[in-house]
Amino acid sequence: MDYGWLLFLFSALLIDLHGVHALFVTDISVPEIVDFRDNVTLVCNYDMSGHTLNSVKWYKDHLEFFRYTPLMHPVYIKFPVTGLQVLDGSYYCNESSCRLGLSLQGAKSTGVYKCEVSGDAPHFKLAAKEDNMTVAALPQSDPLIESFNSMYRMEEFLSATCSSDYSSLPTRLTWYINGEQPLLGELQPTIDTSIPAHDYVLRRQRLQVHFYLQGQRFYQSGKILELKCVAEIENYPELRRETSLSASLSQFDNFNNQMLRHAGANSAAATQRNCISARTTLISVCFVIISLAKCLQRPS
Ligand SMILES: *[C@@H]1O[C@H](CO)[C@@H](O)[C@H](O)[C@H]1NC(C)=O
Ligand SMILES: *[C@@H]1O[C@H](CO)[C@@H](O)[C@H](O)[C@H]1NC(C)=O
Ligand SMILES: *[C@@H]1O[C@H](CO)[C@@H](O)[C@H](O)[C@H]1NC(C)=O
Repeated sequence: MDYGWLLFLFSALLIDLHGVHALFVTDISVPEIVDFRDNVTLVCNYDMSGHTLNSVKWYKDHLEFFRYTPLMHPVYIKFPVTGLQVLDGSYYCNESSCRLGLSLQGAKSTGVYKCEVSGDAPHFKLAAKEDNMTVAALPQSDPLIESFNSMYRMEEFLSATCSSDYSSLPTRLTWYINGEQPLLGELQPTIDTSIPAHDYVLRRQRLQVHFYLQGQRFYQSGKILELKCVAEIENYPELRRETSLSASLSQFDNFNNQMLRHAGANSAAATQRNCISARTTLISVCFVIISLAKCLQRPS
């Protein structure tokens, strides 16, 4: 028996299998979350491994909006689909990658974006990858800290407010005082304001922190008081924004403090003495009045 034939057949089968299965989309780049005012770039990379590229098709929610067919004319075709516009002159595709620039149309641009690649005859193999894109109104600025001064003294009362920028996604504000979160009771309830705009309900949060500059937190901090406000959006850590401001903090001066306390104690004692003497005077006056009244009551 000649095993050479079998080996040849087996190898041929392997090569064929390899050829048939090699076509695949290596990766697709679709932004996960994007602001409705931005333009986005979508990229699809594929590995033809010997196949000839027949077409690359882009879909939004199963509706085709763009096609690249290198073997036909026209090579590029756009199809109108609600929620997006393929920007003129911003697309380029070849046998290994396809890139498009899109402008968006608000909330209706949110959806599943798919890139599908097909090989040529006789197999017309298909390969595809898809990703979700959420189009939202994202905060355009860092949180704003208000009514914070540049200088404070120990024992002083401090109150400051942080506001997030308007966003269609719920934002959570967190304060940090010298790197630590405020204590219980140092925060007011968050105030939530909403306005409808651009097909979205935009919301902004305001959070007030208030506390006395007392205790270990501040003694240990040296001469700097740092307040930081962080605005975070759930599920999107990359959208975190923060603002920090610092103020100089005059520390408690021990000598002056002693003097103050001493003076305080003295004045307290003085007040007490004055009270006693006032009371004595009052009693004496009453005694004189009572005696006088008794004198007047006596029959003459
Ligand atoms: C989006 O692209 C269009 C067309 O190129 C351009 O006019 C517009 O300014 C771009 N918008 C942004 C936010 O870059
Ligand atoms: C295809 O285009 C990309 C840029 O989009 C480029 O990096 C790549 O080298 C091109 N490939 C070929 C085979 O021309
Ligand atoms: C897209 O989102 C839908 C639901 O919102 C989810 O079921 C699906 O798995 C997501 N697809 C991808 C590729 O993340």
